Amino acid sequence: MSSEYSQEKQTQFDQRGSFSPDYPCGERFREATLSGLRLDEKGILRIFEWYKKGKDFLVYIGNKGCGKTWFCQAIFSFMKTSHPSLSRRYWNERDLFDRIRSDAATYYSRQAVQSLVDDHFLILDDVGSNYMMKGNEETFFDIIDKRYSSRLPTIITTNLDEEAFNLAYGERTTSRVFSDENEIIIVKGHDFRRRKE
Ligand SMILES: Nc1ncnc2c1ncn2[C@@H]1O[C@H](COP(=O)(O)OP(=O)(O)OP(=O)(O)O)[C@@H](O)[C@H]1O
Ligand SMILES: [Mg+2]
Repeated sequence: MSSEYSQEKQTQFDQRGSFSPDYPCGERFREATLSGLRLDEKGILRIFEWYKKGKDFLVYIGNKGCGKTWFCQAIFSFMKTSHPSLSRRYWNERDLFDRIRSDAATYYSRQAVQSLVDDHFLILDDVGSNYMMKGNEETFFDIIDKRYSSRLPTIITTNLDEEAFNLAYGERTTSRVFSDENEIIIVKGHDFRRRKE
């Protein structure tokens, strides 16, 4: 039921032209593949092991320009090829909060918020970029708690380390996101937008 419902939502969203269904991260990332990921072998293995496990969170932490959004598009395309019948959704955190705010202008409910994140696979990119906006912590908790309770596979990318995450979103959210059963990958990479010195 959940995947059919999500498909319908995805179609409605696509019809509004909000994102391209196959390349939700944007044209720049069209070529992204997991095999092209700039990550050491150990990191790539951990991603595949997490994917094979098929549940819980994968948290991808790294500095600006290290390839987080590239990774999101690469794994989104991989999900589509390897599990075409399972629904998947990519959200940039800002777009998600904009959407929640615009829906809330007519009607707000926790259920409505949670229905935006009930696909089988969920990717939340750029988490923390929006954290200065007051009131988002509780909404974000509802989102994380929904995913945590269902144990559906969820990817979070962020520039924040655990301490900064805790300051931004509070202990209950951080405890779920950084729980021992999750895969935490920390990338200390070059900013690929700049030439190497
Ligand atoms: N593996 C890769 N192969 C080729 N280009 C890449 C790769 N990884 C990243 N890039 C390029 O490097 C640039 C920065 O990558 P990306 O936007 O994914 O970084 P980011 O970690 O999401 O940064 P930010 O935190 O600022 O959002 C982009 O132009 C992207 O296309
Ligand atoms: Mg990014």
